[in-house]
Amino acid sequence: MKTIFDKTVINGMALRNRFVRSATWEGMADENGRSTKQLADWYRDLAKGGVGLIITGYTFVRMEGRQMPGSLGAQSDDLAPEATELSRAVHDEGGKLCMQLVHCGGQARPKAGSKNIAPSAIESPQYSTLPAEMTARDIDEVIQAFGESARRAMEWGFDAVQLHAAHGYLINQFLSPLTNRRMDQYGGSVENRRRFLMEAYRSIRSAVGPKFPVLVKLNGADYLEHALAIEDAVLAAQALEAEGIDAIEVSSGTPASKDKVPVRQKIDTREQEAYNLDLAVRVKQAVSCPVMVVGGLRSFDLISEIITSGKADYVSLARPFIREPGLVKRWQGGDMGRATCISCNGCYRPGLKGLGIACVVEQAERKKAGKAG
Ligand SMILES: Cc1cc2nc3c(=O)[nH]c(=O)nc-3n(C[C@H](O)[C@H](O)[C@H](O)COP(=O)(O)O)c2cc1C
Repeated sequence: MKTIFDKTVINGMALRNRFVRSATWEGMADENGRSTKQLADWYRDLAKGGVGLIITGYTFVRMEGRQMPGSLGAQSDDLAPEATELSRAVHDEGGKLCMQLVHCGGQARPKAGSKNIAPSAIESPQYSTLPAEMTARDIDEVIQAFGESARRAMEWGFDAVQLHAAHGYLINQFLSPLTNRRMDQYGGSVENRRRFLMEAYRSIRSAVGPKFPVLVKLNGADYLEHALAIEDAVLAAQALEAEGIDAIEVSSGTPASKDKVPVRQKIDTREQEAYNLDLAVRVKQAVSCPVMVVGGLRSFDLISEIITSGKADYVSLARPFIREPGLVKRWQGGDMGRATCISCNGCYRPGLKGLGIACVVEQAERKKAGKAG
């Protein structure tokens, strides 16, 4: 039987347990996407806390594909010295590091005066401005950029890369009939809408070779009318598997998906936990590569049951590790209390102020305790 603390291997990458830190933008890189000591220390703490695989915050492959301030970049070879420090920090503590690669497309926030690019020039609730339709050349350039960025991640000592195909970003925009209205070979049929994803994957695979783990974060559903639904997501998962994807992390939602956004708030009850589990199970039933489930995982016994019952092969958590980077060690040491994260999303606030993400609840409690003492 599989258990949560099993040691596993994904295409040569040895992992010390089945816990994954899901990609989490930290807002700690500089304006060119260059890493900092603050970010290296952040990853060192996470690795020290026992998580098996750490996935970086979304890392842009081209400048115009950026969104949040302080995002990490992989668009240039000259970012090497600081990026290499990140993988070193994680390896020093026995962890593994995967770079999540993204182009935000219509959800990007390009410099004032320049336009976003997206599959189609349409208004969408998930876009704040009207994007320009990508030309054939734009498509080729972005696909090439995915491959070049993956090659850099490998050279910088990262152990894996993950394609961000979820949460309404560019690849998801191509997959979704809501945002992809193209009449060429990238739009229309389900196969055509998946072409951009497949070409980005092939570009990465040919850059890193067969022996480097390539993962994908895929929406099982966008939870928007006429957008990506589970049937198409399963077909995409199968197509990726047929070409050698090494693991699939299942998420859902876009910023426009109301109460079903990717980062849902108020996970107070058992019923609210594991909100993507049904989608992950659908994917798991359709593929034989490892499947990771993310979204609202908070209780150890539930997490453990997901693994022992075979519903997923890995569990991915984001917010709980912001409050408790040592959560895995805590559980491993026998303190089985639920993750203390209250899913308030206050962690974004210091990040948006340029300070880097942090648990504001924890900070407030520390301040109070300090005053009381
Ligand atoms: C501050 C913050 C930043 C995030 N950044 C990313 C990101 O860069 N890429 C990504 O795929 N998901 C990102 N997410 C979403 C998480 O990876 C995860 O899918 C979501 O938070 C649900 O998991 P959780 O309930 O364990 O937090 C972010 C979430 C938070 C709270």
